Amino acid sequence: MIYQGNAVSVQLLDDGIAELKFDLQGESVNKFNQETVEDLGKAVDAIAGNNDIKGLIVTSGKGVFIVGADITEFTDMFKLPEDEIAGWCLKSNKVFNAFEDLDIPKVVAVNGIALGGGLEMCLAADFRVLSEKALVGLPEVKLGLFPGFGGTVRLPRLVGVDNAVEWIAAGGQHRADKALKVGVADAVVAHDKLNDAAIALVKQCLEGKIDFRAKRQEKLEPLKLPPMENMMAFQTCMAMVMGQAGKNYPAPVAAVKAMQTAAGMNRDQALEVEAKGFAKIAKTPQATALVGLFLADQAVKKVNGKTAKGAGEINQAAVLGAGIMGGGIAFQSALKGTPIIMKDIADKALDLGMNEASKLLAKRVSKGKMDAAKMGKVLSAIRPTLNYGDFDDVNVIVEAVVENQKIKQSVLAETEGKVKEGTVLASNTSTISITKLAEALERPQDFAGMHFFNPVHMMPLVEVIRGEKTSDETVASLVAYAQKMGKNPIVVNDCPGFLVNRVLFPYFGGFGMLMRDGADFEAVDKVMQKFGWPMGPAYLMDVVGIDTGVHAAQVMAEGFPERMQYDFKDVSTVMFENERYGQKNGVGFYRYETDKKGKPKKVVDEKTWELIKPHVAETREFDAEEIIARMMIPMCTETVRCLEDNIVGSAAEADMAMIYGIGFPPFRGGPLRYIDSIGAKAFVELCDKYAHLGGIYEAPQMLKDMAAKGESFFA
Ligand SMILES: NC(=O)c1ccc[n+]([C@@H]2O[C@H](COP(=O)([O-])OP(=O)(O)OC[C@H]3O[C@@H](n4cnc5c(N)ncnc54)[C@H](O)[C@@H]3O)[C@@H](O)[C@H]2O)c1
Repeated sequence: MIYQGNAVSVQLLDDGIAELKFDLQGESVNKFNQETVEDLGKAVDAIAGNNDIKGLIVTSGKGVFIVGADITEFTDMFKLPEDEIAGWCLKSNKVFNAFEDLDIPKVVAVNGIALGGGLEMCLAADFRVLSEKALVGLPEVKLGLFPGFGGTVRLPRLVGVDNAVEWIAAGGQHRADKALKVGVADAVVAHDKLNDAAIALVKQCLEGKIDFRAKRQEKLEPLKLPPMENMMAFQTCMAMVMGQAGKNYPAPVAAVKAMQTAAGMNRDQALEVEAKGFAKIAKTPQATALVGLFLADQAVKKVNGKTAKGAGEINQAAVLGAGIMGGGIAFQSALKGTPIIMKDIADKALDLGMNEASKLLAKRVSKGKMDAAKMGKVLSAIRPTLNYGDFDDVNVIVEAVVENQKIKQSVLAETEGKVKEGTVLASNTSTISITKLAEALERPQDFAGMHFFNPVHMMPLVEVIRGEKTSDETVASLVAYAQKMGKNPIVVNDCPGFLVNRVLFPYFGGFGMLMRDGADFEAVDKVMQKFGWPMGPAYLMDVVGIDTGVHAAQVMAEGFPERMQYDFKDVSTVMFENERYGQKNGVGFYRYETDKKGKPKKVVDEKTWELIKPHVAETREFDAEEIIARMMIPMCTETVRCLEDNIVGSAAEADMAMIYGIGFPPFRGGPLRYIDSIGAKAFVELCDKYAHLGGIYEAPQMLKDMAAKGESFFA
């Protein structure tokens, strides 16, 4: 053994060829934490000081190559001043440069995932041989960052400006064949031939058949294209990247700028540009939020992993009701491999449910995402029925019949009588208390809420709602089933609106008050969309369905009268009373026409104002800051209350639920991280400023305490 560290080892193989192996002890994957970078530096020193080594292959002792940087280290590091962050990049780059500058042929054997820093390590080698199973990319922009271990310098020098911009600005993950096509990989081989192929390539270099020094030299020099052509290439890319990323996501544009600035420089100067740019982008609120989001997502997965441990077997599911939601649940369950019985009381409904599933599957087939055989298999995994015939073997049943407490209770009780003890029963109700529904049951411990979002196949969140008597095992099974369906479950306790609607409806309350006071709903929609929401509140109400929204608002008002019972007529109610239910019947706040693709397209409808005018103050302009404050405060304070009331277990789960469930702008990290970005004290002051509007604007005690102690939700 030439070198043995905790993350990296070097040993001599035959013919003067050594193997540098990444194998981070005590971890299931390799990642570039500070320890690994330091270890790599020592390994490189050991290689440099050993005259027996004529060539090198770089391998991994894990199932992956290197998954990327250790993101858990980012939070603290990014709190440092910009020049210290840049200094950290340059220090790491010294190690990568020392590796690159070793005057021996170096070939990486990429056996699996090599992302971010993992791929940047590969780029520092002379050649890259990939297993067919490899997956490579530079996904840093997804964290609001860009590559900081030389990726923006080496990649354009290796594969050209356009390819490098595409890989870095879009942050995609690419299979081996794609990497070969653009030149990121020099060869792709069968998985079991990987190391042999890498060794063979080193030998060819040693025999003088391949000029590895010339290949390396390209990476040390300015970009090859003449300055004018480079400028043109960058300008074309820049416009495209700006258009795709939008103003709220500055990292891709900053990456292209760094590449452009450094185009005429040699490696070491270019790395300085990259380090400075990286440090700057690392300090943006977007990077803070997106890195936080990544960590929150990991935290939620960990919590769910623990919760799901007590799950029973889930081999067969059933859904009651073949409507919009029941059909969607059946489709998703079958698609992800859990066969499902779909029961309804009407033949016609069953036909509709099956047709909907067929349509969704046919779309996949036409897009080449699925073959006809798989489509047939998925469809045959949904069994439509009008009776309880085969319910004996069912492990989990999701009720998705009409939203009516009496009907649901009777359907649930009837079903309970047809299945054996321990069969998990869940309701997809959006508004009815799980504890209340459980009153109709003999075995309330086997029952919980399982709240899917519409459209089921698109929306990643499932709220698993624990009623007063729900057992841990029931919760575990539903978490496991949701995961099996490819969804992100969040476990919450029972209350009106559960978590997501409880937090969403005060936001609609804020919208209603803005309208009452003379705001223009189109202007509010525009401001909130610019803020980062996929759509503004009026449009969202139209999409949700104004009848559904008004009903849910009533439930919330009954549940939390002190805050959510308003003393004015809300514009949504005005729309509802005029039978304007939104997209579902073609007119709500907006009118809907069908576009060329057959999708609803919203247009302004003059009639809306005629209807609204008698109920609101004279229209006036509100500045964006006020609109944002009046919309966001109620949502954020209610999220805090859910944490305060133990409806949700952690800040990470609360934020992730809002991102997965209603498309909270990811670059703002969720309602609680949004409060953090403003600061608890400043947020309480903002609440105080608008508290005269009503209870939804009052700062919760928890937030006041945090403000007094200078605390935040996230580290
Ligand atoms: N649509 C949404 O956006 C949405 C979102 C989340 C949750 N939900 C909830 O999901 C549930 C279903 O909503 P939906 O929009 O799919 O309704 P829907 O009206 O489209 O479907 C309800 C189906 O239930 C069937 N049904 C009625 N009584 C039945 C019984 N006794 N046994 C079996 N089937 C019966 C009906 O025939 C109909 O096919 C409701 O509780 C709703 O609140 C809806």
